[in-house]
Amino acid sequence: MSVSIPPPKCLKKPLTVPHRLMFGPGPSNVPARILQAGANPVIGHMHEETFEIMSDIKSGIQYMFQTRNIMTLAVSGTGHTAMECAIFNAVEAGESVLTAVNGIWGERAAEMITQPNLLRELPKLPNCPVVFFLAHGESSTGVLHPLDGIGELCHKYDCLFLVDSVASIGGVPLYMDEQGIDILYTGSQKVLNAPPGTAPISFSERACQKIFHRKTKPISFFLDLNWLANYWGCDGKPSRIYHHTGPVNAFYSLRESLAILAEESLENSWKRHEKVAEYFQAGLESMGLKLFVKERKARLPTVTTIVAPHGYNWKEITNYIMKTHNIEISGGLGPSIGLVLRVGLMGCNSSKTNVDKVLAALKDALKHCHKSKV
Ligand code: GLV
Repeated sequence: MSVSIPPPKCLKKPLTVPHRLMFGPGPSNVPARILQAGANPVIGHMHEETFEIMSDIKSGIQYMFQTRNIMTLAVSGTGHTAMECAIFNAVEAGESVLTAVNGIWGERAAEMITQPNLLRELPKLPNCPVVFFLAHGESSTGVLHPLDGIGELCHKYDCLFLVDSVASIGGVPLYMDEQGIDILYTGSQKVLNAPPGTAPISFSERACQKIFHRKTKPISFFLDLNWLANYWGCDGKPSRIYHHTGPVNAFYSLRESLAILAEESLENSWKRHEKVAEYFQAGLESMGLKLFVKERKARLPTVTTIVAPHGYNWKEITNYIMKTHNIEISGGLGPSIGLVLRVGLMGCNSSKTNVDKVLAALKDALKHCHKSKV
């Protein structure tokens, strides 16, 4: 045998990555401090120092989620991985799940739940759902859903309350324990401003009771909580067994991003996101643009949805803003495609200076993009 495929010419060129203002729904910009943390030397995923870093991460997530849950860790993967981790562990074939659909994330959860393996025994579905899924911050529609009272209602019916906080946590008040949330997850790439690739998740005692008394194994080995709990030192066992190679450099970045959030404090971060969102909304309205979410209280302060300006092609606007202003903003996603423009100002990106940049870019785009005669 001989090597017949030559080394690719493209790899001879040095890697080039542009600097961009990441004001879409995520990933958001990563500050130098977090990037530098991630550039520390690689050490083993089973080294004592790595376990210490993982333990710090766990404390940081407990603070961010406002929970005392022992079963708190970060999944190796994006928010989607945490979503599958929650569903695949908490739900067994034949059980029913109730999903609130207020945008794409509710739709996605429904799609994951109806995987062939989970649906196998559909005719035997009991009436009462074992899990209720809700996206706290729907990044596709810009809706912030209230959480109070839902946990209690779920528990009355012996149902676990599962919340997706990928687009909201850190930017909006959320109290996992007090609000009776049983499973909560997020991603690293939004308010936390860490690179995509780690996903904090936490399970209440009630959720653990169900998960660790399953009759069948979860359909994913990689996301099996029995294994993850051991790797993250959450199961009280004296030693950890190899499960997968944790992304150690991503752990360093995640730890740094949690440290930054703790330094600012949750309360200050929530207040800053709220004030900046109000300033942005007022600026948009004074330009004659309409907010997609009419009710103020239901507006997600981290991701703002603007009704796609009448007569314009939304794609031309986002392309223009990227090309001319080096700013990423985005169109709709799933059910909101064609209906909205989405602007995410999350974590370090949430500032009045950045709002002014987006407003100026939008004004310029509306002046220069083609308007059809309708
Ligand atoms: C991703 O989270 C998005 O909302 O586009």
